[in-house]
Amino acid sequence: MKTLRECIKEAEEKHVAIGHFNISNLEALHGIYNAAKKLNLPVIIGVSEGEEKFAGLEEVATLVKTLREKDSYPIFLNADHHASFESVKACIDEGFDMVIIDNAKLSFEENAKVTKQCVDYAREISKNTGRDILVEAELGFIGSGSVIRDEIPEGAGVLTKPEDAKKFVEMTGIDLFAPSVGSIHGLIKTGKPHIDALLVAEIKKATGIPLVLHGGSGLRNEDFTNAIKAGVSIVHINSEIRLAYREALEQALKDNPSEITPAKILQPAVDAIEKVVEARLKLFNGIN
Ligand code: G3H
Ligand code: ZN
Repeated sequence: MKTLRECIKEAEEKHVAIGHFNISNLEALHGIYNAAKKLNLPVIIGVSEGEEKFAGLEEVATLVKTLREKDSYPIFLNADHHASFESVKACIDEGFDMVIIDNAKLSFEENAKVTKQCVDYAREISKNTGRDILVEAELGFIGSGSVIRDEIPEGAGVLTKPEDAKKFVEMTGIDLFAPSVGSIHGLIKTGKPHIDALLVAEIKKATGIPLVLHGGSGLRNEDFTNAIKAGVSIVHINSEIRLAYREALEQALKDNPSEITPAKILQPAVDAIEKVVEARLKLFNGIN
Protein backbone atom coordinates (compact mmCIF):
# COMPACT_ATOMS: atom_id res chain seq x y z
CA MET A 1 0.00 0.00 0.00
CA LYS A 2 1.23 3.48 -0.88
CA THR A 3 2.23 5.93 1.83
CA LEU A 4 0.60 9.35 2.04
CA ARG A 5 3.77 10.96 0.67
CA GLU A 6 3.67 8.58 -2.30
CA CYS A 7 -0.03 9.27 -2.92
CA ILE A 8 0.66 13.03 -2.93
CA LYS A 9 3.61 12.58 -5.30
CA GLU A 10 1.42 10.57 -7.63
CA ALA A 11 -1.30 13.25 -7.51
CA GLU A 12 1.33 15.89 -8.35
CA GLU A 13 2.55 13.90 -11.33
CA LYS A 14 -0.94 13.20 -12.63
CA HIS A 15 -2.16 16.78 -12.01
CA VAL A 16 -5.04 15.57 -9.89
CA ALA A 17 -5.81 16.24 -6.22
CA ILE A 18 -6.44 14.08 -3.19
CA GLY A 19 -9.64 14.92 -1.34
CA HIS A 20 -9.40 15.92 2.32
CA PHE A 21 -12.74 15.69 4.14
CA ASN A 22 -13.52 16.52 7.77
CA ILE A 23 -15.44 14.36 10.17
CA SER A 24 -16.93 14.65 13.64
CA ASN A 25 -18.68 11.31 13.72
CA LEU A 26 -18.91 7.80 12.36
CA GLU A 27 -21.58 8.67 9.78
CA ALA A 28 -19.25 11.10 8.04
CA LEU A 29 -16.36 8.65 8.13
CA HIS A 30 -18.52 5.96 6.52
CA GLY A 31 -19.91 8.31 3.86
CA ILE A 32 -16.43 9.55 2.90
CA TYR A 33 -14.86 6.12 2.95
CA ASN A 34 -17.66 4.58 0.87
CA ALA A 35 -17.14 7.23 -1.83
CA ALA A 36 -13.36 6.87 -1.88
CA LYS A 37 -13.54 3.07 -2.09
CA LYS A 38 -16.14 3.21 -4.85
CA LEU A 39 -13.70 5.26 -6.96
CA ASN A 40 -10.62 3.46 -5.64
CA LEU A 41 -8.93 6.75 -4.69
CA PRO A 42 -6.77 7.64 -1.70
CA VAL A 43 -8.46 9.88 0.82
CA ILE A 44 -7.51 12.04 3.80
CA ILE A 45 -9.77 12.32 6.83
CA GLY A 46 -9.37 15.59 8.73
CA VAL A 47 -10.30 16.58 12.26
CA SER A 48 -10.03 20.13 13.51
CA GLU A 49 -9.37 20.69 17.22
CA GLY A 50 -13.13 21.00 17.84
CA GLU A 51 -14.03 17.95 15.74
CA GLU A 52 -11.32 15.96 17.46
CA LYS A 53 -12.59 16.96 20.89
CA PHE A 54 -16.10 15.82 20.00
CA ALA A 55 -15.11 12.56 18.30
CA GLY A 56 -12.23 11.67 20.63
CA LEU A 57 -8.56 11.83 19.69
CA GLU A 58 -7.75 8.17 20.32
CA GLU A 59 -11.07 7.03 18.90
CA VAL A 60 -10.55 8.81 15.57
CA ALA A 61 -6.96 7.61 15.30
CA THR A 62 -8.03 4.04 16.02
CA LEU A 63 -10.92 4.13 13.54
CA VAL A 64 -8.86 5.39 10.61
CA LYS A 65 -5.96 3.06 11.37
CA THR A 66 -8.36 0.11 11.65
CA LEU A 67 -9.91 0.83 8.25
CA ARG A 68 -6.49 1.22 6.64
CA GLU A 69 -5.16 -2.03 8.05
CA LYS A 70 -8.33 -4.07 7.68
CA ASP A 71 -8.80 -3.14 4.02
CA SER A 72 -5.16 -2.36 3.20
CA TYR A 73 -6.52 0.92 1.84
CA PRO A 74 -4.84 4.36 1.51
CA ILE A 75 -6.99 6.27 3.99
CA PHE A 76 -5.02 8.76 6.10
CA LEU A 77 -5.65 11.00 9.10
CA ASN A 78 -4.79 14.70 9.41
CA ALA A 79 -4.83 17.06 12.39
CA ASP A 80 -6.55 19.93 10.62
CA HIS A 81 -5.79 23.53 11.67
CA HIS A 82 -4.18 22.87 15.02
CA ALA A 83 -3.16 26.06 16.75
CA SER A 84 -0.32 25.05 19.06
CA PHE A 85 2.75 22.84 19.18
CA GLU A 86 1.15 20.93 22.08
CA SER A 87 -2.00 20.05 20.13
CA VAL A 88 0.07 19.03 17.09
CA LYS A 89 2.33 16.91 19.31
CA ALA A 90 -0.69 15.12 20.84
CA CYS A 91 -1.86 14.09 17.36
CA ILE A 92 1.60 12.97 16.26
CA ASP A 93 1.89 10.92 19.45
CA GLU A 94 -1.51 9.36 18.75
CA GLY A 95 -0.39 8.14 15.31
CA PHE A 96 -1.80 10.77 12.90
CA ASP A 97 -0.29 10.68 9.40
CA MET A 98 -0.12 14.42 8.97
CA VAL A 99 -0.64 17.63 10.90
CA ILE A 100 -1.42 21.24 10.05
CA ILE A 101 0.02 23.85 12.33
CA ASP A 102 -2.18 26.88 11.84
CA ASN A 103 -0.46 29.96 13.16
CA ALA A 104 -1.28 32.17 10.19
CA LYS A 105 -2.73 34.76 12.56
CA LEU A 106 0.69 35.28 14.16
CA SER A 107 3.53 37.33 12.69
CA PHE A 108 5.58 35.70 9.93
CA GLU A 109 8.46 35.05 12.35
CA GLU A 110 6.29 33.60 15.12
CA ASN A 111 4.41 31.45 12.64
CA ALA A 112 7.70 30.16 11.19
CA LYS A 113 9.12 29.49 14.66
CA VAL A 114 6.22 27.32 15.89
CA THR A 115 5.99 25.61 12.50
CA LYS A 116 9.69 24.70 12.63
CA GLN A 117 9.18 23.28 16.12
CA CYS A 118 6.41 21.03 14.75
CA VAL A 119 8.54 19.96 11.78
CA ASP A 120 11.46 19.09 14.06
CA TYR A 121 9.21 17.02 16.30
CA ALA A 122 7.60 15.22 13.34
CA ARG A 123 11.05 14.41 11.93
CA GLU A 124 12.27 13.11 15.29
CA ILE A 125 9.27 10.82 15.77
CA SER A 126 9.39 9.68 12.14
CA LYS A 127 13.04 8.76 12.59
CA ASN A 128 12.43 6.88 15.83
CA THR A 129 9.34 5.00 14.68
CA GLY A 130 9.78 4.48 10.95
CA ARG A 131 6.60 6.48 10.30
CA ASP A 132 6.60 9.35 7.80
CA ILE A 133 4.64 12.19 9.42
CA LEU A 134 3.92 15.12 7.10
CA VAL A 135 3.64 18.70 8.29
CA GLU A 136 1.62 21.43 6.58
CA ALA A 137 1.50 25.10 7.49
CA GLU A 138 -0.22 28.18 6.12
CA LEU A 139 0.55 31.76 5.39
CA GLY A 140 -2.05 34.42 4.68
CA PHE A 141 -5.76 34.68 5.39
CA ILE A 142 -7.95 31.69 4.54
CA GLY A 143 -10.60 32.40 7.16
CA SER A 144 -11.67 30.11 9.96
CA GLY A 145 -14.67 27.91 10.64
CA SER A 146 -16.65 25.74 8.25
CA VAL A 147 -19.88 27.67 8.67
CA ILE A 148 -22.48 29.39 6.51
CA ARG A 149 -21.67 33.08 6.07
CA ASP A 150 -23.79 35.89 4.68
CA GLU A 151 -20.86 37.47 2.91
CA ILE A 152 -17.14 37.30 2.29
CA PRO A 153 -15.31 38.13 5.55
CA GLU A 154 -12.93 41.05 5.84
CA GLY A 155 -9.30 40.29 5.02
CA ALA A 156 -10.20 37.76 2.34
CA GLY A 157 -8.52 39.71 -0.43
CA VAL A 158 -5.04 39.52 1.11
CA LEU A 159 -3.25 36.80 -0.83
CA THR A 160 0.08 35.05 -0.16
CA LYS A 161 3.09 36.50 -1.93
CA PRO A 162 5.30 33.92 -3.72
CA GLU A 163 8.48 35.39 -2.21
CA ASP A 164 7.04 35.12 1.33
CA ALA A 165 5.95 31.55 0.61
CA LYS A 166 9.45 30.63 -0.59
CA LYS A 167 11.08 32.14 2.49
CA PHE A 168 8.59 30.46 4.82
CA VAL A 169 9.09 27.03 3.26
CA GLU A 170 12.87 27.40 3.39
CA MET A 171 12.82 28.53 7.02
CA THR A 172 10.53 25.75 8.24
CA GLY A 173 11.15 22.71 6.01
CA ILE A 174 7.42 21.88 5.81
CA ASP A 175 6.17 19.13 3.50
CA LEU A 176 3.00 20.85 2.31
CA PHE A 177 2.01 24.49 2.01
CA ALA A 178 -1.42 26.11 2.29
CA PRO A 179 -1.41 29.54 0.65
CA SER A 180 -4.12 32.14 0.50
CA VAL A 181 -5.06 32.20 -3.18
CA GLY A 182 -8.66 33.43 -3.12
CA SER A 183 -10.66 30.88 -1.20
CA ILE A 184 -11.80 31.04 2.40
CA HIS A 185 -13.43 28.61 4.78
CA GLY A 186 -17.17 28.12 4.81
CA LEU A 187 -20.16 28.42 2.50
CA ILE A 188 -20.83 32.02 1.51
CA LYS A 189 -24.34 33.04 0.52
CA THR A 190 -23.12 35.70 -1.91
CA GLY A 191 -20.68 33.22 -3.52
CA LYS A 192 -16.97 32.63 -3.12
CA PRO A 193 -14.19 34.64 -4.75
CA HIS A 194 -12.41 33.07 -7.71
CA ILE A 195 -9.12 31.26 -7.19
CA ASP A 196 -6.09 33.08 -8.55
CA ALA A 197 -4.64 30.14 -10.51
CA LEU A 198 -1.71 32.19 -11.82
CA LEU A 199 -0.73 32.90 -8.23
CA VAL A 200 -1.05 29.19 -7.41
CA ALA A 201 1.40 28.41 -10.23
CA GLU A 202 3.83 31.10 -9.05
CA ILE A 203 3.73 29.85 -5.46
CA LYS A 204 4.20 26.28 -6.61
CA LYS A 205 7.24 27.32 -8.63
CA ALA A 206 8.65 29.41 -5.77
CA THR A 207 8.21 26.75 -3.07
CA GLY A 208 8.66 23.54 -5.05
CA ILE A 209 6.44 21.59 -2.63
CA PRO A 210 2.85 20.30 -2.94
CA LEU A 211 0.17 22.92 -2.32
CA VAL A 212 -3.08 22.47 -0.42
CA LEU A 213 -6.28 24.34 -1.22
CA HIS A 214 -8.45 25.10 1.82
CA GLY A 215 -12.00 26.36 1.86
CA GLY A 216 -13.20 24.15 -0.98
CA SER A 217 -16.93 24.21 -0.19
CA GLY A 218 -18.96 26.21 -2.67
CA LEU A 219 -16.12 26.92 -5.09
CA ARG A 220 -16.98 26.83 -8.78
CA ASN A 221 -15.90 23.71 -10.69
CA GLU A 222 -13.51 25.67 -12.92
CA ASP A 223 -11.80 27.16 -9.87
CA PHE A 224 -11.04 23.67 -8.58
CA THR A 225 -9.77 22.42 -11.93
CA ASN A 226 -7.67 25.54 -12.60
CA ALA A 227 -6.13 25.37 -9.13
CA ILE A 228 -5.33 21.67 -9.51
CA LYS A 229 -3.80 22.25 -12.96
CA ALA A 230 -1.70 25.04 -11.45
CA GLY A 231 -0.23 22.93 -8.65
CA VAL A 232 -2.75 22.07 -5.93
CA SER A 233 -2.37 18.44 -4.80
CA ILE A 234 -4.86 18.28 -1.89
CA VAL A 235 -8.28 19.97 -1.62
CA HIS A 236 -10.13 20.47 1.67
CA ILE A 237 -13.92 20.17 1.90
CA ASN A 238 -15.85 20.47 5.14
CA SER A 239 -18.92 22.77 5.07
CA GLU A 240 -20.55 20.86 2.20
CA ILE A 241 -20.35 17.67 4.29
CA ARG A 242 -21.81 19.40 7.33
CA LEU A 243 -24.67 20.82 5.28
CA ALA A 244 -25.42 17.50 3.58
CA TYR A 245 -25.49 15.80 6.99
CA ARG A 246 -27.82 18.35 8.50
CA GLU A 247 -30.23 18.46 5.56
CA ALA A 248 -30.45 14.66 5.29
CA LEU A 249 -30.99 14.32 9.01
CA GLU A 250 -33.71 16.96 9.07
CA GLN A 251 -35.46 15.27 6.16
CA ALA A 252 -35.22 11.82 7.76
CA LEU A 253 -36.71 13.09 11.02
CA LYS A 254 -39.47 14.86 9.15
CA ASP A 255 -40.27 11.79 7.01
CA ASN A 256 -40.24 9.38 9.96
CA PRO A 257 -41.50 11.25 13.01
CA SER A 258 -41.80 8.14 15.17
CA GLU A 259 -38.62 6.35 14.07
CA ILE A 260 -36.15 5.85 16.93
CA THR A 261 -33.62 3.45 15.38
CA PRO A 262 -30.41 5.46 14.84
CA ALA A 263 -29.32 3.35 11.86
CA LYS A 264 -32.59 4.18 10.08
CA ILE A 265 -32.52 7.86 10.94
CA LEU A 266 -28.84 8.29 10.08
CA GLN A 267 -28.40 6.15 6.96
CA PRO A 268 -29.68 8.97 4.69
CA ALA A 269 -27.02 11.26 6.19
CA VAL A 270 -24.30 8.71 5.37
CA ASP A 271 -25.66 8.44 1.82
CA ALA A 272 -25.85 12.22 1.41
CA ILE A 273 -22.22 12.65 2.52
CA GLU A 274 -21.16 9.85 0.19
CA LYS A 275 -22.83 11.65 -2.71
CA VAL A 276 -21.10 14.97 -1.97
CA VAL A 277 -17.70 13.31 -1.59
CA GLU A 278 -18.09 11.19 -4.69
CA ALA A 279 -18.88 14.24 -6.83
CA ARG A 280 -15.93 16.18 -5.42
CA LEU A 281 -13.50 13.27 -5.85
CA LYS A 282 -14.60 12.81 -9.44
CA LEU A 283 -13.97 16.47 -10.16
CA PHE A 284 -10.56 16.49 -8.44
CA ASN A 285 -9.52 13.44 -10.45
CA GLY A 286 -10.97 14.26 -13.86
CA ILE A 287 -13.45 11.37 -13.70
CA ASN A 288 -16.74 11.86 -15.57
O1 G3H B 1 -9.73 22.68 6.61
C1 G3H B 1 -10.90 22.63 6.23
C2 G3H B 1 -11.32 23.30 5.03
O2 G3H B 1 -10.42 24.16 4.50
C3 G3H B 1 -12.75 23.35 4.75
O3 G3H B 1 -13.24 24.49 4.08
O4 G3H B 1 -15.57 24.41 4.91
O5 G3H B 1 -14.95 25.77 2.93
O6 G3H B 1 -14.98 23.31 2.79
P1 G3H B 1 -14.79 24.49 3.67
ZN1 ZN C 1 -8.89 24.62 6.09
